[in-house]
Amino acid sequence: MTAHARPPRQATLDTLLAKPVHEIPAGNLETLRRKARDCHACGLWKHATQTVFGAGAEHARVMLIGEQPGLQEDAQGLPFVGPAGQLLDRALAEAQVDRGTLYVTNTVKHFKYELRGKLRLHKRANAAEQEACRMWLAAELASLQPRIVVALGAMAAQTLFGNAFSITRQRGRWRRLGEDTEAFATFHPSAILRTRDEQRATMYRQLVEDLTEIRRHADD
Ligand code: URA
Repeated sequence: MTAHARPPRQATLDTLLAKPVHEIPAGNLETLRRKARDCHACGLWKHATQTVFGAGAEHARVMLIGEQPGLQEDAQGLPFVGPAGQLLDRALAEAQVDRGTLYVTNTVKHFKYELRGKLRLHKRANAAEQEACRMWLAAELASLQPRIVVALGAMAAQTLFGNAFSITRQRGRWRRLGEDTEAFATFHPSAILRTRDEQRATMYRQLVEDLTEIRRHADD
């Protein structure tokens, strides 16, 4: 899979999300990353170390969207570098997808956690926090204009396709998203890590199959 220079396109991509976003920050990815550093659109910034903006190839044709950064992503400021990222990297390698050709981001850009003693335990961002962060995802889509958008897990899939979307029932199928973009949903690596034994192996195999399908489609 290769990253390509982007052909000029007319369509605005703010309509790619299930609900419209009213004010989309403008700029290239570097500008957006800089602007997002100071985002106070919800309260998550107060306890997080930093904004974890998307990262990857500037002209990626394929954009992967996860849920929200975890502990290690919060420390390093990069998406998918902790245990879920390691599983994702292994699955990408098996599917022969070079992560360097992708743009990888999250639906929510700050780590949310609850304190248990000294431990900071992951806590799912609520609907208002997801809503506050949608402008950044819309801005990333508008700036990158990817040909293929991949939702990893329910939070990203529902942001793209609406709240009725079910990963269990609807993953693994192509959907059109706007004029020039196609979308696909698959398992979130953390969901695989939370599952045990045989079911974990089955979900992992399905993730690898889905990523292989995405590579083939992107290479067409
Ligand atoms: N889970 C996510 O959804 N994103 C990350 O960056 C890490 C874990």
